[in-house]
Amino acid sequence: MNVAAAARRDERIRPRPGRAVVIASANGIPACDCAMDLLQQGGDPLDAVVAGVNLVEDNPEDHSVGFGGLPNEDGVVELDACVMHGPTHKGGAVAALQNIRNPSSVAKLVMQRTDHVLLVGEGALRFAKAHGFKEQDLLTDEARRIWLRWKEKHSDRDDWIHPEADLEAARFLGRNDVEYTYGTISCMALTPNGDLGGCTTTSGLSYKIPGRVGDSPILGAGLYVDNEVGACGSTGRGEANLINCSSFLVVELMRGGATPEEACKQVLKRVADRTEPRLRNGQGQPSYQLKLYAVRRDGMVGGACMRGDEGRMAVHDGKECRLVGLEGLYPALPLPASLSPTEQQKRS
Ligand code: GLY
Repeated sequence: MNVAAAARRDERIRPRPGRAVVIASANGIPACDCAMDLLQQGGDPLDAVVAGVNLVEDNPEDHSVGFGGLPNEDGVVELDACVMHGPTHKGGAVAALQNIRNPSSVAKLVMQRTDHVLLVGEGALRFAKAHGFKEQDLLTDEARRIWLRWKEKHSDRDDWIHPEADLEAARFLGRNDVEYTYGTISCMALTPNGDLGGCTTTSGLSYKIPGRVGDSPILGAGLYVDNEVGACGSTGRGEANLINCSSFLVVELMRGGATPEEACKQVLKRVADRTEPRLRNGQGQPSYQLKLYAVRRDGMVGGACMRGDEGRMAVHDGKECRLVGLEGLYPALPLPASLSPTEQQKRS
């Protein structure tokens, strides 16, 4: 990270006691803006973040979440989400939910209107419908074409053939090279009183095995909130968080006095050290991306990423929302040259 970027980051991450703060993954600027508006009207931190991430879930151009999310290997969009409310220390989650565009809102209702924490699949869908959510096909035409390209190109030993000669498809494919992605939005809010709320919501790993559930709906993995300490959320390879309880561990390290950035880096180092050989590159480094974002109860924020210095997190300090640089433990992953600069930024 260059000196100017580091200075901007340091300026944004200092403690701000008594001030509202909202943080999110880099795709969460609209979510932060919306959540901050609600906090400034005295809103609850969980209501604020869920309202914020709903905007991203509703955006068909964000292929990492909600309506327009990339589907599983069968072409079906399956969504995961969880929420956690600091003041009550309650949480709710849904996993492998189909046909409902706002899984974060369903997760909040699981927290508020059941004695459970996690509902999955058909049961989660029935619960959502009981609360008035309308079913719809979440696979947009663009997401379907991205999935179809993956299906046609990922193996040359099946009967699906990619029409390389089709010029219209080729133009489209130039914008969206076939890659597995773990895109997600994680968003956390701190009120001026020191109350926290958080939400992580995703369509999960693109082209996943149907039924695969990542870290996003698992409290302690993709999100954790402790009102006495702070909150942590994550995006990236969910399996790495599931087997390391990463978000919980970040919060526990902050409880022990670490800054958010120190805590995120320590956890990423631990995740890296425990990475199986199959997932390491020639230098022995993890070959996947993982990002952690954290906010402490005193308003200090920070994060880190496994790969590259180009990672960003969105930070709203009450005046404006900015993207703040994240330091990577290891150099950036090479990205396909065919990706547009916007797409490269999204995936970094
Ligand atoms: N972090 C999102 C996922 O792995 O599903």
